[in-house]
Amino acid sequence: MERVFTDHLGDWKRGCCCGEPRTDGVGRELTLMGWAQTRRDHGGLIFVDLRDRTGIVQVVFNPEVSQAAHEKAKQIRSEDVLSVRGLLVRRPPETVNPGIATGEVELVVRDVRLLNASQVPPFPIEDETDANENTRLKYRYLDLRRPQSLAHLLLRYRMTKKIRDYLDGHGFVEVETPVLTKSTPEGARDYLVPSRIYPGKFYALPQSPQLFKQILMVGGLDRYFQIVRCFRDEDLRADRQPEFTQLDMEMSFVQPEDVLEVVEGLMTLLFKELKGIELRRPFPRMSWEEAMSRYGTDKPDLRFGLKLVDFSLAFKGSQVKVFSGVIERGGVVKGIRVSGGGIFSRKELDDLTTFVGQYGAKGLAWIKMADGEWQSPIAKFLSEKERSEILELTEANSGDIIFFVADESKVVHESLANLRLHLGERLGLISEKDYSLVWVVDFPLLEYDAEEKRYISVHHPFTAPLEKDLDLLEKEPLRVGSKAYDLVLNGVEVGGGSVRIHQPDLQKRILGLLGIGPEEAEEKFGFFLEALGFGAPPHGGIAFGIDRMAMILSGARSLRDVIAFPKSQRAVCLLTDAPSSVDAKQLKELGIKTVD
Ligand code: AMO
Ligand code: AMP
Repeated sequence: MERVFTDHLGDWKRGCCCGEPRTDGVGRELTLMGWAQTRRDHGGLIFVDLRDRTGIVQVVFNPEVSQAAHEKAKQIRSEDVLSVRGLLVRRPPETVNPGIATGEVELVVRDVRLLNASQVPPFPIEDETDANENTRLKYRYLDLRRPQSLAHLLLRYRMTKKIRDYLDGHGFVEVETPVLTKSTPEGARDYLVPSRIYPGKFYALPQSPQLFKQILMVGGLDRYFQIVRCFRDEDLRADRQPEFTQLDMEMSFVQPEDVLEVVEGLMTLLFKELKGIELRRPFPRMSWEEAMSRYGTDKPDLRFGLKLVDFSLAFKGSQVKVFSGVIERGGVVKGIRVSGGGIFSRKELDDLTTFVGQYGAKGLAWIKMADGEWQSPIAKFLSEKERSEILELTEANSGDIIFFVADESKVVHESLANLRLHLGERLGLISEKDYSLVWVVDFPLLEYDAEEKRYISVHHPFTAPLEKDLDLLEKEPLRVGSKAYDLVLNGVEVGGGSVRIHQPDLQKRILGLLGIGPEEAEEKFGFFLEALGFGAPPHGGIAFGIDRMAMILSGARSLRDVIAFPKSQRAVCLLTDAPSSVDAKQLKELGIKTVD
């Protein structure tokens, strides 16, 4: 049967949304509009579940009420768009559906308009779908009709609305900064946009509005924020997208404490209003040094234990050559004790060894503690003294296992930090209901990049060094502390910022340390250095990953779930097929030739 869906809305106006009718409306005429979730034919009656973003209501086509409407209803299939008019009635008690908010009522249809037919959707519009993610992204508009997808976007909207209200109440002004701009270093590759008017020249899409927000402080704005799209061409992961949204903030005449205080107020509000959770203030602070040493990472997940233990002193000169050798070469030996881990099988231990191998570990030594006996590939090399030091450092009990990695500290930390998370998840030590927020503070200003053979900023080049360390800048750059801070939520870096350098001379000095000489500094940042020279106030700020916040607050598993039109893991927009080829004419206009 050919389906005829050519009706128009005409003069019909929607009376209310599908999720709204209740018993207090019984006896009224109503006009409803929405999508057909399902159609069921029962003994001459046709039932359609009509859905919109507010919910579902049952509508009934009874040939005795309207033969014409009943005839039309026979054509309806899932996801067709219709408008119905009729009488809202109370459902007979035995047909009440307590599973939906409108479950006590139904609409008896007198008239229907078939507004648009739908193709058979590639997956059903319901929360439990086994459709693969790429299909859902290609048909994202269908995916968005699923209540759960919608809930993610609604939470995100409520979050940004509350952020705007809160910041407005604290004297912040939202200002837009350019998207076609000049490169700002945040450590990723830039997306470039060729200029047609100046062939061979390019705009860069902002990795963040860092320089503009600082310049706004020079401009006297005092307190700025922006909910802003940022672009970074970097390797993607579940918590990274090539374009993402920041809550970007900057304040004048502040020290780190002032920024932290405003942010804690905001976070407390968001958790209270969006999750009903009261956070305790002030949030805990942890030095970068402690985070690295006890968790192996600058974004520790504090919801569970399994802290790292340093055995480097205990194994100095040890007969365990894989350990002592590493220590002699300046490396470290660290480990994790897992309570009750003695039950890991040989195969499981091999798998864990392969797991840490991904992070560069050359092995994973282990000791199973059993009463009176230690099982371990390295047991026979352990001296009595080493045994007692291991016991003292780990407080291990019978039935536990201790894992060890020996290597340069970067490899040890990366392997053990990931092993810790892996074990925490696998052993069920992480409660989904817990939220652990921690400020990581006292970051070093610089680190040494062995590949590039130069110092690089731990945060970015505009972060202020601690005044007390200024003398060390040229002498011992790695010992210089900074006024940077990160906010970490459940092991995810949700925000990062710093108090900035506001004096041009100091800024030039830092750029110099980073290997950016006066000429390059002038070319890249001349406008900015000049601005600092016209009375830049002391200032500082922070930026939050809005997508990351929305992901955690909504319990979503990936950033893609909380972005309306995300890129796939391979940086493609599956809906539009971007990136795509362009006309030769367009390239010519831009003065661009591509090479294969
Ligand atoms: P930073 O680079 O730390 O700081 O970025 C701030 C926050 O943005 C989020 N974020 C991302 N989210 C999704 N996908 C990405 N690819 C991505 N990259 C970063 C993170 C991060 O904490 N200008 C500085 C801020 C400042 O100093 O004020 C900046 O951009 O949650
Ligand atoms: P091997 O002497 O190489 O057979 O290693 C003995 C044990 O030490 C095995 O369990 C290895 O997984 C482990 N091992 C080897 N190298 C390292 C290392 N760098 N760090 C930790 N454990 C290691």
